[in-house]
Amino acid sequence: MRIDNQHIFLEDVPVTTIADTYGTPTYVYEENRIRNNFRRAFAAFKKYYDDFRFFYAIKACNNLAIAHILKQEGAGIDAASVNEILLAKQLGMGGEDVMFSGNFLSDEDIRQGLDSGVIFNLDDVSLLPRVLTFGKPDVLSFRINPGYGRSNVGDFVTNAGPKAKFGLHPDQVLDAYAAAKEAGITRFGAHMMPGSCVTDADYFAFVTELLMDLIGRAGKELKIDFEFIDLGGGLGIPYKPHEPGLHIEEAAKKVAIMFKEKLDEYGLRPPRLMMEPARYFTGDAGYLVGRVHAIKDSYTRIVGTDIGMNVLARPAMYDAYHHIYVNGREDEPRKPVGLCGQICENTDYWARDRELPEGTQIGDIVVVENAGAYGYVMSYQYNGRLRPAEVLVNGREHYLIREREGFEELTRGVHVPEHLAL
Ligand code: LLP
Repeated sequence: MRIDNQHIFLEDVPVTTIADTYGTPTYVYEENRIRNNFRRAFAAFKKYYDDFRFFYAIKACNNLAIAHILKQEGAGIDAASVNEILLAKQLGMGGEDVMFSGNFLSDEDIRQGLDSGVIFNLDDVSLLPRVLTFGKPDVLSFRINPGYGRSNVGDFVTNAGPKAKFGLHPDQVLDAYAAAKEAGITRFGAHMMPGSCVTDADYFAFVTELLMDLIGRAGKELKIDFEFIDLGGGLGIPYKPHEPGLHIEEAAKKVAIMFKEKLDEYGLRPPRLMMEPARYFTGDAGYLVGRVHAIKDSYTRIVGTDIGMNVLARPAMYDAYHHIYVNGREDEPRKPVGLCGQICENTDYWARDRELPEGTQIGDIVVVENAGAYGYVMSYQYNGRLRPAEVLVNGREHYLIREREGFEELTRGVHVPEHLAL
């Protein structure tokens, strides 16, 4: 994004063009920023550990156009569900380019996951006998809860430690791999996903140490050579203006030093090192373009836009901060106002005392930052307000990559029994 003479451009496309062409609210993604984010992170890790690969956690932004960009950059796909495995197949990806990290799976999930031939990453040892009733995966990995997790999104997305629902308990790691080996599995990986959105470079080496001590002991004792070790996602981005970002080079360097040290300590053959971020790639490359539709002076001034909690769920769900710009007014003096969407819930009053340009008025176009991860995918229909469109920009070009929902989506698949339709 850039602001030129108070006018906001996404790559080289004015936001007015987006709003006029596609309407509002619309998610917009900058292709070159996604590519640059990927390349910066990849170069950092590759520099310190050559056998390195990223998998893209497609849950964060599942538009196939976006996933194609990351595929072109060389990423595999991390799938959270069978349908995400199917999305990967639509990208032309399968086999060991895809990792299935579901949790609390049904038998049907397990059967389809196994049939799909992708890498199976088990969230718990209790899944092993269930998987084995359907077949034996070529490569098996466990998602390990290393006993500690952290997140800048409060406790909401801390995915490891005693309060998390995810992962194999640290005390069960040895037994889990022993059971898998006993069952005749010969190829192994290990995985963790302890937290999302962390901007402290030291954290990544710290959790690597925790995982490597668990894996190292298991590998040494059971004489297992791990083919890959996946440190999960979690590479954070700053959401607030002036908030420091993650020093990716430092994170990569410290992780690689710790990783190699632990491989030596436990005498493990060097495996492929993997990570599966999403937010770092797409988060700051995505924006929500909306419009001001009403302004009320009540206990305070409240500015109402078409960006409601159904379109961007993060503020209502996690009390998350998303910065907002008003097109054409960024140089104006500011005053604190409330910001809300059009949903009949007070959690839709998603920012209070936000400093917006004083002259903000009905019809103005607003741009919400850092909406490229966990944005569109977490949108829903509520109050009959439908999901927005998605647009990709590259230089001066703009492409519709998902149509705005229409009324028919509100009734699709609905059946009214005859006796009610009299
Ligand atoms: N791998 C696994 C197994 C995951 O569960 C996740 C995210 C990722 C990778 C990617 O994590 P990232 O690099 O994006 O941090 N909705 C929340 C975030 C939930 C994260 C869920 N798992 C938010 O809006 O902040």
